[in-house]
Amino acid sequence: MSNVIRVVEISKRFGDIIALDNISLNISSGEIVAVLGENGSGKSTLAKILYGLYTPDRGYIEVNGKQQVFLSPADAKKYGIVMVSQRPQLIDELTVLENISLFLNKPLNKIYNDINIFLQEFNIRINIASPIHTLSYTERQYIEMAKALLARPRLLIVDEATTYLPQSMKIKFFEMMKRIVATNGSIIFITHKIPEALEFSTRIIVLRRGRIVGEFDSNNISLDELRRVMFGETAIIQTTKQAQDIPIIKDAILKINNVLVEDEYGKKAVENVSLDVKQGEIVGVVGIAGNGQRELCETIIGLRKVKKGQILFEGRDITHIPPNKRIAIGLYYIPEDPFRDGVFLNLTVAENIKIFSQRKIERKAFQDIISKLNIIPANPGVKVHKLSGGNVQKVVLSRIFINIPKVIVAYNPTRMLDEYSSRLVASTLTKFASLGGSVLLFSEDLDEALAMGNRIAVMSRGKVIGIYNYTAINRSELEKVMVAYA
Ligand SMILES: Nc1ncnc2c1ncn2[C@@H]1O[C@H](COP(=O)(O)OP(=O)(O)OP(=O)(O)O)[C@@H](O)[C@H]1O
Ligand SMILES: [Mg+2]
Repeated sequence: MSNVIRVVEISKRFGDIIALDNISLNISSGEIVAVLGENGSGKSTLAKILYGLYTPDRGYIEVNGKQQVFLSPADAKKYGIVMVSQRPQLIDELTVLENISLFLNKPLNKIYNDINIFLQEFNIRINIASPIHTLSYTERQYIEMAKALLARPRLLIVDEATTYLPQSMKIKFFEMMKRIVATNGSIIFITHKIPEALEFSTRIIVLRRGRIVGEFDSNNISLDELRRVMFGETAIIQTTKQAQDIPIIKDAILKINNVLVEDEYGKKAVENVSLDVKQGEIVGVVGIAGNGQRELCETIIGLRKVKKGQILFEGRDITHIPPNKRIAIGLYYIPEDPFRDGVFLNLTVAENIKIFSQRKIERKAFQDIISKLNIIPANPGVKVHKLSGGNVQKVVLSRIFINIPKVIVAYNPTRMLDEYSSRLVASTLTKFASLGGSVLLFSEDLDEALAMGNRIAVMSRGKVIGIYNYTAINRSELEKVMVAYA
């Protein structure tokens, strides 16, 4: 049976912020509708209304000609509407299996096989008996995807969950999307990657400040045109210049010597890893999610114990010093999940920035940072939990403008950012390196690692299996290395 889901004249306001302003949209069977828009334009709000997480102030949703009121995701699920959230919505203490069982409302033994088949099909090596808190952000996204797809949705809403999937997995995911639309389902596909939207959708809508500012047939619109509609004429930043022009002559500022780290269960998570970062250098660390990158990153900033080996910072042994002392000597961290590890959600933007400063900050300085990073709304007094995903990430990034660090350890720092803001961050980090700063960039986006890194280290099964000069390897070669050892 074919479906039509209609969004009719929906508006949603949060205090002074108008998140959605009179939005109307029809989604028919067989359609993949991509939703594009800069950070804070209203994409997740629209998705959450369709999924019953928010109720609209005005307007309504219609399914097959009948008006419906969704007061919770359970109501939306009755009509086959399922969402893969921008941030994984899983219960940390429960296992993968338990989370999926809860979501599907089916007993563990009934879904055990289905989950394993799914994980195998996607080549995901996660033990389904592991509690969620032991997984990396991207691995949690896999589980979020699994649970949504196993629910066999009629309307699947994907809120920016595909960005960091490895290419092979992305292709499989898009195949699944096509299977859904081939069997009369439909998809709402929210993404920051404009080429992905062009390639995989049938129709594209662009949101700006809560309004639909463009609606296009995906075959009849160019990338540049879409960019202009999204960001306006002036907002296109030149692609970041590589910092390789600056000769790197200095010694390593951060040296990791033969480090061994164990995971929560005493299994080796990082083994024999040696890596150094020189002054003025950006070193990218790539690999398929779950190969020890997260554990290595957390070890460097002091959140995990080193079992064997050494970490040196400017020649000083910091292997066993606590995270706050590492920050004090100039080792900064941009975490992988800004909501969980990066901000105080109940404090304002200004309060979050202040926490990282030893000095008093003038009001103007807050405004400067907000405009430098294009934080929306541009109000230092707004509480961070009221910001959109990308804007929360920008608040985390603001700290590198407060006290200038020596080394920045960043984990997927542009996750959740729109194209404009991603470039802003990339150019900020490369500029920082060109002035003598150092960056260890853990990234699951190979293009980003190659665009910014001077050298790229590949991790597999807890080991660094290769370090390449960025000029000596390209994206597909990197993918091959990652997969060959996986
Ligand atoms: N729970 C909330 N309370 C207050 N304001 C909110 C809330 N949720 C969203 N907003 C505001 O509504 C606007 C739209 O937010 P939304 O999360 O829909 O943006 P988005 O397009 O998904 O952005 P991003 O690309 O960063 O994820 C933003 O200005 C945001 O600050
Ligand atoms: Mg969003």
